[in-house]
Amino acid sequence: MCGIVAYIGEKQAYPILIKGLQRLEYRGYDSTGVALYNNTLNVFKRKGKVKDLIDYAAKEDTQGTLGMGHTRWATHGVPDDINAHPHYSEDKELAIIHNGIIENYALLKKALQKDGHVFHSQTDTEVLITFIQTIKAKTGASIDEAVRIALSKVVGAYAIVVMDKNDPDKLVAARKGSPLVIGIGEDEYFLASDATPIVEHTKNVVYLNDEEIAIISREDGLTLKTIDNEVQTPYIEKLDLEIDKLEKGDYDNYMLKEIHEQPTTIADCMRGRLKPSKGLVRVGGLREYEGRIINAQKITIVACGTSWIAGLVAEYLFEDLARIPVEVEYASEFRYRNPVIGEKDIVLAISQSGETADTLAALELAKQKGALLYGVCNVVGSSIARITDSGSYIHAGPEIGVASTKAFTGQVTLLTMIALNLAEKKGTISKSYYLQLVNELHNIPKKVEKVLENNKKIKYIADLFKDSTNALYLGRGYNFPVALEGALKLKEISYIHAEGYPAAEMKHGPIALIDENMPVVVIATNKSAHDKILSNIQEVKARKGRVIAIVTEGDTTISEVADFTIEIPDTEEPLTPLLSVIPLQLLAYHIAKMRGCDVDQPRNLAKSVTVE
Ligand code: AGP
Repeated sequence: MCGIVAYIGEKQAYPILIKGLQRLEYRGYDSTGVALYNNTLNVFKRKGKVKDLIDYAAKEDTQGTLGMGHTRWATHGVPDDINAHPHYSEDKELAIIHNGIIENYALLKKALQKDGHVFHSQTDTEVLITFIQTIKAKTGASIDEAVRIALSKVVGAYAIVVMDKNDPDKLVAARKGSPLVIGIGEDEYFLASDATPIVEHTKNVVYLNDEEIAIISREDGLTLKTIDNEVQTPYIEKLDLEIDKLEKGDYDNYMLKEIHEQPTTIADCMRGRLKPSKGLVRVGGLREYEGRIINAQKITIVACGTSWIAGLVAEYLFEDLARIPVEVEYASEFRYRNPVIGEKDIVLAISQSGETADTLAALELAKQKGALLYGVCNVVGSSIARITDSGSYIHAGPEIGVASTKAFTGQVTLLTMIALNLAEKKGTISKSYYLQLVNELHNIPKKVEKVLENNKKIKYIADLFKDSTNALYLGRGYNFPVALEGALKLKEISYIHAEGYPAAEMKHGPIALIDENMPVVVIATNKSAHDKILSNIQEVKARKGRVIAIVTEGDTTISEVADFTIEIPDTEEPLTPLLSVIPLQLLAYHIAKMRGCDVDQPRNLAKSVTVE
């Protein structure tokens, strides 16, 4: 939800912090700020993006080799200069940056106010740092001990970094439920919400665990402790992230780059798992628990947003191919509805960031109930990847655009391979059909390249619909989830209201919305329900609706009825989502650009929703 970065070493901290914040801005961009130590604590913070902070701090003293920075997605308090992080303690001796929510902050605030403490912001974070200040004053404890005591009394999720004016050779950090990575350089340390600000400085990292405190001092280096004061041994891992993957390259923005990366990222996801020459699919993460998963009475999928939609595609794949019952749950609902989950259950979490709070909490609940946890993630070392019993990475590389594109097709590719792996083991599909799907999956990256060649036509169509106020997306079977995803893409980057529906459902209500002002996008590539989807299009046309149809190459039937058609190559029905989603990504992208929207950082959104 927010981005955190910090530095202690010999170099000037400010340029490192600013570059780090620019890398983290996709996590939240309501306001930004830095704290620097240069004989005193200096805090510079502004509403707006990193560029606004740079302009504001240009005339200030930004010297110092110890510092921290924050880019915010507002939870408590409107996005403004006062609520921006870092926050001083009341006595201005301490400063803090925070990603998360302190759930018992109101109680703490009331007690502190009763003791005469005054607050300037509406944030829970300012309450936390003043609480730390009071503990330090009462106990005379060191800053790291005061932080530890304070955190043992707060409820909620946090990733924090604290600086103390009177202990300027030290950074104190801690996490619970929100991510924090430590980069270990030559006589310098970096802290960040994820590895993107760290990788250009060092590949040696430590992923902080929940309820761990990191004390980084110039004298003693890195010390790890638990909230219960037990010293931990840091486990140093090597980052497998390449810095060039973080750049936009020749593209105007990350979203367009990531849409066009999909032939490569889908191929990367299949590498080492899909073996067409041997007619085989093997997903390594399944191996240890294959028996349990194959004989599962049910697989419950928990996820949010686009990842939840990928879960819906998986439901069709797992049931159609592997004949395993699947239930797809919004993680935020699953975690609170007292689900019937036990030791016989498999709970599969899908998450690009691997840090989504609701998905993480759903897994924690499932773990308590004894279920087997499987993770499908993109970010290596993320919290979900680490809490699950097993899992698989989609290898899509960092997805910086807030709107998920390559992660969605990476998730669907991986879930398709899992379904095929299980189907082959269970013998629920014929050998010939299995081989057909394996070979066709191998051809998908080239077919995605072909779909991307529609870009110009899609841009033309986007121009005709860019001023719409609503849109309807219809699909059947494997393409029903794709209709939902197309609608979500349009909503989240162009701010046009859009709904996805099963095509046949339109007659049960939404058809009342159809008139000449309602664009209707229909994914009409189904073979099995081609005539039915054709009737749905005719029903829309009969009410003057304007239809944009995604069709299989050469399908002249649909193109005679629809107002506009976008052709995609023919493929096996279970693999259609990997192709039919691409035109919808581009349609949303071009409409949003034509409306002057920020496609990489849409308003109100953040890339990783690490709070409830
Ligand atoms: C998708 O375009 C959105 N950015 C959002 O719905 C996202 O899919 C959701 O927040 C889940 O994120 P995750 O995959 O990192 O868990």
